[in-house]
Amino acid sequence: MAEGIGKVLIVDDDRFVRMALSEALKSWEYEIVEADSVKAAKKAFADDEPAIVLLDIDLPDGSGLDLLTHVKEQGPDTVVVMITGNVDVENTVAALRGGAHDFIGKPVRIEELRVTLRNATETRELRREVQQARVERKKGFDFAEIIGESEAMQKAMELARRVAVSDVGSILLNGETGTGKDLFARAIHFASERADKPYLAINCAALPANLIESELFGYEKGAFTDAKAKKEGLFEQAHGGTIFLDEIGEMELSLQAKLLRVLEEGTFRRVGGLKDIHLNARIIAASNRNLKQESESGNFRLDLYFRLSVIQVDIPPLRTRGDDVILLAKYYIEKVNQKRRGKSLIGLSPEVARIFKNYGWTGNVRELRNVIERASILEDGDMVTSAHLPADMLGGHPNAAGSRSSAFMLPLEGVPLESVEFELAKQAIERTGGNLTRAAKLLDISRDQLRYKLRKAGYDTESADQ
Ligand SMILES: Nc1ncnc2c1ncn2[C@@H]1O[C@H](COP(=O)(O)OP(=O)(O)O)[C@@H](O)[C@H]1O
Ligand SMILES: [Mg+2]
Repeated sequence: MAEGIGKVLIVDDDRFVRMALSEALKSWEYEIVEADSVKAAKKAFADDEPAIVLLDIDLPDGSGLDLLTHVKEQGPDTVVVMITGNVDVENTVAALRGGAHDFIGKPVRIEELRVTLRNATETRELRREVQQARVERKKGFDFAEIIGESEAMQKAMELARRVAVSDVGSILLNGETGTGKDLFARAIHFASERADKPYLAINCAALPANLIESELFGYEKGAFTDAKAKKEGLFEQAHGGTIFLDEIGEMELSLQAKLLRVLEEGTFRRVGGLKDIHLNARIIAASNRNLKQESESGNFRLDLYFRLSVIQVDIPPLRTRGDDVILLAKYYIEKVNQKRRGKSLIGLSPEVARIFKNYGWTGNVRELRNVIERASILEDGDMVTSAHLPADMLGGHPNAAGSRSSAFMLPLEGVPLESVEFELAKQAIERTGGNLTRAAKLLDISRDQLRYKLRKAGYDTESADQ
């Protein structure tokens, strides 16, 4: 690292010490400020904002240790190096506790000073970087990054912000796929007092129940065949942080019972363990299903639903957010522009803006992002035009928000009905990740009907689920 970065304040009542130090420092291209008393040092510190302070302990009008406290309060980033004639243990300990970076003894050896200062400068840079990283990490997951000026979104964010800083132990995020549940969960974590602690996420749809259980609870050695050594679960690892249970509606009923117990009692045990461990993490659960309905039909535990929904944040679907869809489209246009070589996109054609506002957006913001990314690849001009929108978006007309039929309109030249059916069936399959039962539900037909339609179109249903 280059020397000569920043100002150095030399505080010593001995004029010859100051002279010797400042001569050496100047030759290394540091800028020097001098002070001979506590009072003068405080003033110099305020006026010149030095990066480094060389501080004598015995001063005529007070102790360098008190000055150390003052400096660390006013400028926590400042690196303080103590200079002391007689090294006594008590002072040393006090100074280190007070945040001194290092000590050098008198008489000062120039080489030692040089190394110490170089260290000090590095330390300061490092501190800055760490702080920067923390700020940036927070920035990426801030409520300010969530786009939405509609009343519905403002209400959801306002509630989420309030519960973030509260001491509420569990929160339920409810919203269709792509509405921003992940985004909200992180924003809540990083807006809370837990921000510096871990944020750990697990997707209940992606793992079998026994794996989720051992991931969450951890296990003792020998709890099951593969448990060769004990393992801490997320409940322990989160340690003061937040656990995000995504798609909790997919969690098996037996595991739901165990989770409920943890929430009620505030303690848990590792699998195969006997010791009660205190839960010290906030649980944020998310679901794209209506858990109340699910519990009425027996797919979700009603008692767990009640426990989780004490604080429920409903994230509204995009089609009910009015002009937010245009704001979000512009946001994604800016994003794709950064990656796009050549001409930038400048906006949406009026026709596209109209279509966007009336479209059903079942995939919500995620779908919107995909539409913009696709258009940005296909468009040659500087506007997103309807020519490069997915076929099923075309022909939308003004409608009551959320009306089911809004997205479909017969093209002027007509279209074979069967191909539309097949296209929609295929989309339902894709959206549900190949789950025939849920795809059929989306289309409001039976699983067998769906299977039949797919077969008729020559689609291999065996590759989807059973
Ligand atoms: N209001 C919003 N502002 C900016 N980006 C958003 C917003 N809502 C969602 N996104 C983005 O859309 C995508 C889907 O959001 P996500 O939080 O994963 O949805 P969910 O978890 O509800 O399925 C992510 O890339 C996310 O960053
Ligand atoms: Mg998600």
